[in-house]
Amino acid sequence: MRAALITVLCAATAAQAEHMFQGRDPASGAALYAEHCASCHGAELEGQPGWRSPGPDGVPPAPPHDESGHTWHHATPLLLDYTLKGGQAALEARGVTGFVSGMPGFEGVLTEAQALDILAFIRSTWSRRAREVQRLRTHGEP
Ligand code: HEC
Repeated sequence: MRAALITVLCAATAAQAEHMFQGRDPASGAALYAEHCASCHGAELEGQPGWRSPGPDGVPPAPPHDESGHTWHHATPLLLDYTLKGGQAALEARGVTGFVSGMPGFEGVLTEAQALDILAFIRSTWSRRAREVQRLRTHGEP
């Protein structure tokens, strides 16, 4: 009984994630990206210089969203949480504490649909292989 319930819950989560990019508008996402994200993550999604090491204040700079970064390593719900709630809250919700994130939350500025449009735009710049890795991350398949 319990196992069946867990299976149902997992299936629901995967199905929800599957639908997250359906019907999204990457063109509108590109415009929103330029307005809200490019100042830190770069107009060409290239990130901030020296993004691999923390800055003098100990806070990591903004990483690229192109394939040279690690956005494509993460499941969609994490990326969405990062965008809407900010880095600190997204990580704390997953049990990671004591990490100072320079990523602000955009809740109240962007709707969930707009945040997904932006992520769909970012995703549209990746190779087929990176998109497939990100899809598998999202759905928890091997
Ligand atoms: C004020 C600067 C700033 C702005 C503006 C900003 N970010 Fe970030 N973002 C950061 C920093 C710094 C990090 C890295 C720190 C961390 O990982 O917590 C980050 C990390 C992220 C991450 C997680 C790392 C990854 O895997 O790519 C995502 C996703 C993200 N940002 C999305 C966005 C989106 C989408 C927007 C626009 C709606 C945006 N950011 C706007 C500074 C910013």
